[in-house]
Amino acid sequence: MSASPAIETILLEERRYPPHPDFAAQANAQPEIYEREFEEFWESEGRERVTWFEPFTKLYEWEPPYARWYLGGKLNACFNCVDRHVEAGRGDKVAYHWEGEPEGERRDLTFADLQREVVRLANALKRLGVRKGTPVGIYMGMVPEAPIAMLACARLGAPHTVVFGGFSADSLSGRLQDMECEVLITQDEAWRRGTTVPLKRTADEALADAPSVRNVVVLRRTGGDVPMTGGRDVWWHDVATEDADCPCEPMDAEDLLYLLYTSGTTAKPKGIAHTTAGYLVGVATTHHYIFDVKPDSVYWCAADVGWVTGHSYIVYGPLCNGTTGVLYEGTPDFPDKDRWWSIVERYGVEILYTAPTAIRSHMKWGHEYAERHDLSSLRLLGSVGEPINPEAWVWYHEHVGGGRCPIVDTWWQTETGMILITPLPGITTTKPGSATKPFPGVDAAVYDEDGNEVGPAGGGYLVLRRPWPAMLRGLYREHDRYVETYWSRYPDTYFAGDGARIDEDDDFWLLGRVDDVMNVSGHRISTIEVESALVDHGDVAEAAVAARADVTTGQAIVAYVTLKGGRDGSVEMLEELRNHVARKIGPIAKPANIVFTPELPKTRSGKIMRRLLRDVAENRALGDTTTLADPMVVEEIKTRAATERTDD
Ligand code: WTA
Repeated sequence: MSASPAIETILLEERRYPPHPDFAAQANAQPEIYEREFEEFWESEGRERVTWFEPFTKLYEWEPPYARWYLGGKLNACFNCVDRHVEAGRGDKVAYHWEGEPEGERRDLTFADLQREVVRLANALKRLGVRKGTPVGIYMGMVPEAPIAMLACARLGAPHTVVFGGFSADSLSGRLQDMECEVLITQDEAWRRGTTVPLKRTADEALADAPSVRNVVVLRRTGGDVPMTGGRDVWWHDVATEDADCPCEPMDAEDLLYLLYTSGTTAKPKGIAHTTAGYLVGVATTHHYIFDVKPDSVYWCAADVGWVTGHSYIVYGPLCNGTTGVLYEGTPDFPDKDRWWSIVERYGVEILYTAPTAIRSHMKWGHEYAERHDLSSLRLLGSVGEPINPEAWVWYHEHVGGGRCPIVDTWWQTETGMILITPLPGITTTKPGSATKPFPGVDAAVYDEDGNEVGPAGGGYLVLRRPWPAMLRGLYREHDRYVETYWSRYPDTYFAGDGARIDEDDDFWLLGRVDDVMNVSGHRISTIEVESALVDHGDVAEAAVAARADVTTGQAIVAYVTLKGGRDGSVEMLEELRNHVARKIGPIAKPANIVFTPELPKTRSGKIMRRLLRDVAENRALGDTTTLADPMVVEEIKTRAATERTDD
C-alpha cells in the first residue's frame, strides 16, 4: 500500500470487527445485559459476586459529590479473594502462576497457599501493632508477596497504599507521610532486566523523611546485602511464621480499603480513596463480563501491582472471581524479546490484558518473536492506559490474537476504580482505536465547554452523570481539591479530564488528557510535578514542561529550562537534570528532551504559556502569540528546540 500514514490510519479506523457467533454463544455477557435496569443490575451483581458477612440493606446513596454503596453490608475483601474459595473446596486451584525474571524461577501458588501466606503475614503484622484502620505502605516489585501483602492488610482491615517500585525515595516518603503509614512492607531488591533495583535502600532513604513508619517488613528476594535497622526492620521470613487462625475483620461496606496516589495537576499527588464493597463488586463484575473469565480460564494482566490496573485486575477483581492468574516479575525483553510469548505458551494464557505502549514495543521489535511460540490458547485481548492507535490495535489483533481474539479497549482511571467504557466481547462490534460503549449502567457523555452534550460532529470533555460502585470516595483529606478537580466544571457531573468524541454509532473515541497530566507509557505524570523536580535543582531558575507525541511511549516529556545567571545549557547539564528528575520522582518521569532557553514565553501578567510550548514540542505552527510579553522568546525557543533534540 502506498497510502500516506494518515490515510492508512483512517482506513484502519474504518475497519469493523463484529463478534464471532461461537464466541457470542458462550460469552458471559449476553445482549440483554444492556437492557438491565441500573439498580437491579448492581443489586444482583452485588449479591452474586461477593460473599457478605451481613447483607446490605440499601443499594446506594448519592449526595453529590459523594456516593456510598451497599449500605449496611459487612464483608472482608481478603475473605472474598482467598478464604471463601478454599472453603468451597477450591484450595488446590492455582491462584497465581508466578514467573520470576531470572530464567527458570517459577512458583505456583494455589488458593490454599495464598491463604496460608496471607495468614502468616497478617499474624506478623498484628504483632507489629497493625489493627483495623492502621495505614500500611507497600513498596515492592512483582513478586507474589506483593498481592499477599495487600491481602494481609485487607484481612486485618488495615488500609494500604502501594507505591510503584519505580518511584524514588522522595515519592515514596511523600506518600507514606501523607497517609501517615505506620508500617512499610518492602523487599531487599527487585529484578529488572537482569539487574537489581535497590528497593530497601531507597526505602531507607525515604524513611528518613517518614517518621510515622515504626516498622519495616523486608522480604528477601534477591538475597542482596541490605542494611537492616535494629528495632525497626524485620525480615519477612523471621516474622511471618505463625499459622494460627487469623480471622478476617468484618468491614463496613464503606470502610477504606486502600489509597492509591496518582498525579494531579499540581506537584502534590492525590490520594484516591477506595472503599470496600462497591469497589469489590465493581471490579469483580467488570472482570467477569469484560474478560469473559470462566472457572478454568488462565488470565494474565501484565500491569504492575503498583498501578490501579494491578489493584483492580491483578489482585481484587480476578481473585474475587477465583480466577487463575499469571504474575510476571520482569521486563518483556529479558533475556529476549519473546519472553511474554513464552509465558503465554507455558501457562496456556487465554486472556491477555496490557497497555498500548507495550504493544507498540512488541510491534517495533517485530512479529517474529510472537511467531516463535504457540499462542493458540489466547481467546481474548485487552488494552488499557492510553488511547490505542489503530496500527497497534490491528497488529495486536493479527500477530498476537491470530485474527481470532476479540479486543477489549478499556477506558477507566485510578479514580473510577473499575472499567467504565469498553466493548463487551461477543456483543460489541469493535473498531480499532475506539473504546466503544459505556459498561451497563454507566452514564457517560461528551460535553462542550458550556455543558451541552456534543453529538457525532465534534469533540469535547468526557463526563459521567451517574455514580458507579467502584468510584473514588474522595481525595484523602482534600475535600476542596476533590470538588475542584472533578465536580466544579459541571453541576453534579464527574469531569474525567479526558477529551472524547462519540461517532454515529454512539461509540466513544478517547482523545487524551485535557489537563496538565501527561501519559507516558501509560503512566500518569503531571507537568507541574516534573517542573518542580527541575526547579529543585540548584542551577535551574525556571522550567516549563509539555508533552509531545511519541511513537512508542504515546507521549514524551519535553522540558524548557532557564538556568540561573543566564548560563547556557550543555550536554552534561542536560544529563544531570534528567537524572535529577529521576531521583526526585522516578525514571519514568525523565524528560526525553530538554531545551535550554534564556527565557520562557510568558503573558504580560507573567503566566507561562504552556500552549505554545506544546506547539513547539509537537513541532506545530504556533497558535496565537499576541498575548506574549515578548514574542521573540518563542521564536528563539523554536530554533533551540530544532537544534537540541536529544531523544533517548
Ligand atoms: C488514560 C489507568 C484512552 C486516560 C487505568 C485516563 C485511556 C488515564 C484508556 C487514567 C483507554 C486509560 N483509552 N485513554 N482505553 N485507559 N486511559 O489513572 O487519559 O493510570 O484519564 O488509570 O489514562 O490513568 P490511570
